[in-house]
Amino acid sequence: MNDIITIQITDYLSHDLAALSAQAQWRSASPQCVNRIRSFNFDSKCDTDFFHVVATRRDGRLVGRLNCLQNAEDPTLWYYGDLFVLPEHRRAGIASGMVQAAAGHLRERGARTLRCYVEADNAASLALQRSLGFAERPWLPFDRLDNAGQIMFELDLPVPYSVVPYAEIDEPAFIMKLHRQNQAALHDRRVLLAEWREIMAAPDPDEAHFFVCLGCVPVAWLKLNGLSGTHTAWISTLAVGTRWHRRGAGRFAVGFAEEFLRAQGFAEVRIKTTQDNLAAQGLYTACGYRIVGEGDYRTGDGVLRAGYTFSRRLG
Ligand SMILES: CC(C)(COP(=O)(O)OP(=O)(O)OC[C@H]1O[C@@H](n2cnc3c(N)ncnc32)[C@H](O)[C@@H]1OP(=O)(O)O)[C@@H](O)C(=O)NCCC(=O)NCCS
Repeated sequence: MNDIITIQITDYLSHDLAALSAQAQWRSASPQCVNRIRSFNFDSKCDTDFFHVVATRRDGRLVGRLNCLQNAEDPTLWYYGDLFVLPEHRRAGIASGMVQAAAGHLRERGARTLRCYVEADNAASLALQRSLGFAERPWLPFDRLDNAGQIMFELDLPVPYSVVPYAEIDEPAFIMKLHRQNQAALHDRRVLLAEWREIMAAPDPDEAHFFVCLGCVPVAWLKLNGLSGTHTAWISTLAVGTRWHRRGAGRFAVGFAEEFLRAQGFAEVRIKTTQDNLAAQGLYTACGYRIVGEGDYRTGDGVLRAGYTFSRRLG
């Protein structure tokens, strides 16, 4: 009967799996060899972030392993290495399954690139990277790793976000939570759920609301307005859940807003933000917007604050 192989992601190998892994990689489970795995795990976890992907049989025996390490300068870049599959389990899709599990996990964590390095004479590994869609790129170092002379491959991870229009009756709770988490940055007043229910129950033809989702979970709320006009529409609110800040959801939301408005025939998108909101200014600048106006405007908490108007023409 074929063995059932389980692929799991774990931040810390058990003592047993570390010993089995050392045995498989270096044909020795001596304390020195096991400590190579423990030290690499310890240092990588302290420096940036790190996890293992392990393939095991039903009886718990280790069949294969790889590990993933986050880059120190660019947190969206990860490396995978130390990949092995025991000889008797090769050509059964286990290495592909482990790399795909790592890529799927990293994609959800906001990673954009998965990199690996392969020896020029390792035909099996070269074929594996190509079959998984990795592209050969000019060699670059990766932090303290010593892999000069090897061939560098990278896999661009697809954006994990999707957009759904606001629709369901219980969704004001998501808006309330996303708004509340960002209330200070937005300089808005506290809005209770009952009021959100009222606001959302009376649709305004000038506005449209969307959720940016990870899987089925809303992680950002986007509100557009000015939709009853013709030339210029506005990103009226963009609030990314604090847990998901700096993972590309804001950039994705702005791109979606542009596509949506372009399809509606608008020629320009505008956004207002306060002078103290450096995250928002960083986002709009990174998305190609420029400041076209400067002055005071009244924020949701009723206070007059210095701010900017950002604009981008839709080509
Ligand atoms: C502003 C906000 C929407 C950004 O969302 P986000 O999902 O964290 O942004 P992204 O991860 O897509 O970032 C894209 C780019 O924007 C810029 N950026 C995002 N956050 C930044 C910050 N805190 N400081 C400086 N630049 C920032 C960077 O250039 C970033 O690219 P990089 O990560 O490759 O450096 C989010 O911080 C938020 O919800 N803030 C509170 C509500 C708010 O201020 N909304 C805007 C009102 S106008």
